[in-house]
Amino acid sequence: MRTFAYAMLREIYEQPEAVRRTLAMYTEHGRLKEERWKGLTSWTSRSGEVLIAASGSSRHSGLAAEVMLEDLSGLAVDVEYASEYSCRGSEGSRFPSVIVLSQSGETSDTLAALRTASGKGQPTLAITNAPDSTMAREATVSMPLGAGTEVAIPATKSFLCQLVVLYLLSLYEGEQRGTLASTEVAARLVELDALPAKLEAHLEAWERGMNSLAATYRDASTFLYLGRGVHYPIAREGALKLKEASYVHAEGYPTGELKHGPNALVSERVPLVVLATVDHSLAASVLRYEKTLQLLEEMKAQGARVLAIANQEDRAVKALATECVCVPPLSEHLLPMAEVVPLQLFSYFMALQRGIDVDRPRNLAKAVIESAAG
Ligand code: G6P
Repeated sequence: MRTFAYAMLREIYEQPEAVRRTLAMYTEHGRLKEERWKGLTSWTSRSGEVLIAASGSSRHSGLAAEVMLEDLSGLAVDVEYASEYSCRGSEGSRFPSVIVLSQSGETSDTLAALRTASGKGQPTLAITNAPDSTMAREATVSMPLGAGTEVAIPATKSFLCQLVVLYLLSLYEGEQRGTLASTEVAARLVELDALPAKLEAHLEAWERGMNSLAATYRDASTFLYLGRGVHYPIAREGALKLKEASYVHAEGYPTGELKHGPNALVSERVPLVVLATVDHSLAASVLRYEKTLQLLEEMKAQGARVLAIANQEDRAVKALATECVCVPPLSEHLLPMAEVVPLQLFSYFMALQRGIDVDRPRNLAKAVIESAAG
């Protein structure tokens, strides 16, 4: 059996199994497990509104959930930084159901957001990787992840499992609210079941590819990560992972925002990481992709260095980007679950290039828990 130099790499490799465990908790025989989901009736939003509060990587899975829930179930979703939510002080007349997302289930700001919502009588759902955590215990409903213990400070398998549970939640809500037929839910579950094997099939190639790309890009001073729609949160997550693990500055932007300022930074030492995948069966995805191709053309003409994440066999992206990493074909809402893995590996190898203990980056903690005085 392979031994890993760092927990982060091991946890990246554990992802297919973590997804399988998570799916086994919530689905059976290609359906949503009834006994797992019936508790959700006490949470489901009567107002049709959901508020998600989270911090760090967990907030990025919340941003992806905003798109998934809105697209698939028609719920109206807002995503807040947990640290901002409890400080807003606004009473307002809205009464959304609240989701707190947290790997640890203990992050002080997210716990404070949960308590603020509970204090106002709002139904709360905690999605955590720790079924006995404070958030899991205090929320109206708890949906644990099957990621297993995560040791490295940069979140990897917990993030992916959050995406999986949030996708399942979107399917459940879609079915309940009549926006998805049960046959459509079943077809989407078949595709999701096949995801772990697809990740397994690509992990080693991604590892080799990202190891070599980290050597190519090691001297870059800043990276701009770009994505549209449900891929934008993955651009944010890729950039956060790079900062946390390798201390290299990076920012995630919606692709269309590049020209509204950040493009002034683009240079030999400021490359772009562009999420350029597509689901050809979905018109909105094709539109996003075409706009991204146009941007890649412009960036090529501008002389930018571009590392693109694209579908296998995508010759158009390959011809326009400086480097291209491929992910397997998947439907729009599942593509992020593949895209994030090579980005995690890129951060990992950038950290190794720079001699950083990737499991314990300076100044960071696995969970930010403040003392009462803090
Ligand atoms: C810390 C960790 C991050 C994590 C964030 C939220 O900042 O270093 O990796 O994403 O906390 O943690 P949580 O446990 O609430 O998901």
